[in-house]
Amino acid sequence: NAMFYWQRSAYHFQPQKNWMNDPNGPLYHKGWYHLFYQYNPYSAIWGNITWGHAVSRDLIHWLYLPLAMVPDRWFDFYGVWTGSATLLPDGQILVLYTGKTNESMQVQNLAYPANLSDPLLLHWLKYPGNPVMVPPLGIQHDDFRDPTTAWLGHDGTWRLTLGSKLGMWECVDFYPVAINGSVALDTSALGPGVKHVLKASLDDTKVDHYAIGSYDPMTDKWTPDNPEEDVGVGLKVDYGRYYASKTFFDHHKQRRVLWGWINETDTETADLQKGWASLQTIPRTVLYDNKTGTNILQWPVEEVESLRLNNTVFKEVVVEPGSVVPLDIGTATQLDILAEFEIEALDISSTTNQVLDCGGGAAERSTYGPFGLLVIADASLSELTPIYFRPLNASDRSLRTYFCTDTTRSSKASDVFKQVYGGKVPVLDDEKYNMRVLVDHSIVESFGQGGRTVISSRIYPTEAIYGAAKLLLFNNASRVNVKATLKIWEMNSAFIRPFPVEGDDS
Ligand code: FRU
Repeated sequence: NAMFYWQRSAYHFQPQKNWMNDPNGPLYHKGWYHLFYQYNPYSAIWGNITWGHAVSRDLIHWLYLPLAMVPDRWFDFYGVWTGSATLLPDGQILVLYTGKTNESMQVQNLAYPANLSDPLLLHWLKYPGNPVMVPPLGIQHDDFRDPTTAWLGHDGTWRLTLGSKLGMWECVDFYPVAINGSVALDTSALGPGVKHVLKASLDDTKVDHYAIGSYDPMTDKWTPDNPEEDVGVGLKVDYGRYYASKTFFDHHKQRRVLWGWINETDTETADLQKGWASLQTIPRTVLYDNKTGTNILQWPVEEVESLRLNNTVFKEVVVEPGSVVPLDIGTATQLDILAEFEIEALDISSTTNQVLDCGGGAAERSTYGPFGLLVIADASLSELTPIYFRPLNASDRSLRTYFCTDTTRSSKASDVFKQVYGGKVPVLDDEKYNMRVLVDHSIVESFGQGGRTVISSRIYPTEAIYGAAKLLLFNNASRVNVKATLKIWEMNSAFIRPFPVEGDDS
């Protein structure tokens, strides 16, 4: 089926076939990045969870390796679930993961590479004394999972966080960021000039929430900077289809790298027909935003730029209220787009007041927006996905901007879940509006204002595929002209292939 085939990613990581969910235990070892992932070897639907394994020299081109861990012990009989890696000062690698036992209890288990001198880390040993942690008194047997990377305390004791329930916190992440905003920190970094990000994946809503705060190592207490933006009520790591994210410190390039799982929004039946489900984001660097002091900044790792082919530049294209402008760039299914927008107010003597959010989608007009890009659109605009800014008058008459993706018209298919995604984005006084958009067939990753607000989405066009997919500018504001300057690269495909390993029967 040509439509299903078109939906596969060209440069995002995904297994050759079957189901994948959370990224697990990312690490760098002897010249290779390792990615493990929740993987069902038998079906495109969740189940039989193992640790899939792939390696890369550059986080972009990947080699699939044999499964790293499968459920073969009583302490992980019903699944080798999510976990993280910790690199010890002596070079040892330790993995802690959740096992679902033969009695369906969630416990934490230890595993380590059989041979550290093997750069591919092909063989993993499970500690015979597992489990090393069981649910404490008062915690349900199935509400205790997903340990983080450990950090070393002032007293020489390693600590880690893991999630449990009031509303289940899955895949907790906890890491330091430098207030100066320019360097990344190893997970054990403490001291002045350091803040800590706490992230939880909320099972109820399937959203990754984070907050920035202070960690007191003496009391092991973390306090959010702004109680109104505490974990679960404020910021989202990604406002789109995104979950179970996890960072690791890349000591090779001295950066913190964030992985996240992008799920499908089509049906299980379609996934079974395609034979696969889900993919991972392009890995992103994470830094503290010292200009706003209120958010992290996410940006695709620089290595993705090695896939850039020919580029096209558009300078100061004027888009009038209520119009679209096609951007003639040839094939538009694999793109890296940098776009900058200035607005020029026309008559704004009377402005419309609207609810501060993304609205009902890109068709809903207001004084200053929405304006932005239409990606994966067909010539007749019967299918299109707007990525846009929506500046709105707040009650104090200042502008508040929302960064959004509207998938409601992304596909003519009726059995696809379509939503308007987005969140607020700080735009400082001296800044133009800017976005970066990675388009890779059915995946669109959008970064607003240098990565302050990020949205990943899945789209399943039926017509706007292959050569029929186009890119346009749009301005649906009622009272402003938009001037757009863009640089657009066609993107090469990445090599994501099986690596022939002797004795591999997986
Ligand atoms: C998150 C999650 C984790 C669990 C894993 C099982 O998506 O539910 O909490 O460890 O997936 O595959």
